[in-house]
Amino acid sequence: MHNDELPQVAQQLIDRCLSREIQAGVIGLGYVGLPLAVAMARAGYHVLGVDSDQGKLEALRRGQSYVGDVPSEELAPLVQQGRLRFSASYADLAGADAVSICVPTPLRKTGDPDLSFILSATRALLPVLHSPMAVILESTTYPGTTREMLLPELEGTGLKVGEDLFLAFSPERVDPGRTDWTTRNTPKVVGGITPACTQVAAALYGQALESVVPVSSTEVAEMTKLLENTFRAVNIGLVNEMALMCERLGINVWEVIEAAGTKPFGFMKFTPGPGLGGHCIPIDPLYLSWKLKSVKYNARFIELASEINTGMPRYVVQRIQDAMNERGKALRGSRFLVLGAAFKPNVSDTRESPALDVIGLLREKGAEVAYFDAHVPSIEEEGGD
Ligand SMILES: NC(=O)c1ccc[n+]([C@@H]2O[C@H](COP(=O)([O-])OP(=O)(O)OC[C@H]3O[C@@H](n4cnc5c(N)ncnc54)[C@H](O)[C@@H]3O)[C@@H](O)[C@H]2O)c1
Repeated sequence: MHNDELPQVAQQLIDRCLSREIQAGVIGLGYVGLPLAVAMARAGYHVLGVDSDQGKLEALRRGQSYVGDVPSEELAPLVQQGRLRFSASYADLAGADAVSICVPTPLRKTGDPDLSFILSATRALLPVLHSPMAVILESTTYPGTTREMLLPELEGTGLKVGEDLFLAFSPERVDPGRTDWTTRNTPKVVGGITPACTQVAAALYGQALESVVPVSSTEVAEMTKLLENTFRAVNIGLVNEMALMCERLGINVWEVIEAAGTKPFGFMKFTPGPGLGGHCIPIDPLYLSWKLKSVKYNARFIELASEINTGMPRYVVQRIQDAMNERGKALRGSRFLVLGAAFKPNVSDTRESPALDVIGLLREKGAEVAYFDAHVPSIEEEGGD
């Protein structure tokens, strides 16, 4: 679509992005939402962050960040200048031109996707919806969510998406703890319900982030994120199984990986470990396999990788038990120090961390376990895997 075919209100929003007059809202100020809010405020937008957690809001209003990727020294001046404000009330989004939804998408105990956070955030937004306004979903979810869940909710107000409102999905790719690739310089995929929706969302993020990659639909954008995370889950599963196979054959898996890593093309290095952690890699592929079950397709790579990866903490404990046995010692009554509790280096995030499973399994077997992690002052008791 050429710009002269754009609805006038879409062009208005795009112009406001280009002149940086945009009032942007971010719902959910966690690992994803806070860096995005800061990137938009740094671009010159006025940003209002909304979160349901009062403790987080109080810290943020003091200019204190709880997200490692956002230094307080970067946050505080934006708060002092009034570029970045925080509220628990959706009513304060009444003046927003655009709202990005960055709420959690966990799994239910049954392993099914839990979209209740997205749904409650969307419904809470309805009273302040107005034309023109852009709504962009960032939370990782299965393909079809934006069109099947958000679109009917938004259009239930009588406003028409693509004409009055602009709805898009844009997956966040942030890798917490990483400093070379951040929210700002990692290319951002954007897919709208209509071409105008894509253009508005691309203009919004195009001023705040270094590059935007427009795609043809919300489904393509949703599936892109799931391909990226499934790629990681499957390759980690493969290299974990390679470790199991090498152990059976008496081969040093690390030497094999190092040697394979010297191939300049066609190979990408992954390393084995005690399992998967974080809010993304262990969970997101299961959103995809769940969706595929509804069309009677069994996502075999995802299921197999998940099976191998979730078995790793038990394998690690078995290896510890064998090593102790060789020294004539039992796990029961032995004392262990586990180094590292977060799911990866340089972050405080213990969600789904396999270290907690290893600690829980060792304790189950009667071991006394202490841990040290400079980023994790305390951990909740875990009952094993
Ligand atoms: N953490 C990552 O590395 C990462 C990377 C890419 C994508 N994602 C995806 O982004 C989404 C958010 O992940 P996260 O890690 O930032 O989660 P998070 O738990 O760190 O942050 C979510 C925030 O949303 C708030 N919240 C929950 N319900 C709310 C509501 N109804 N209204 C307002 N605020 C609400 C919570 O208080 C919390 O502060 C998820 O879908 C996740 O899969 C995460």
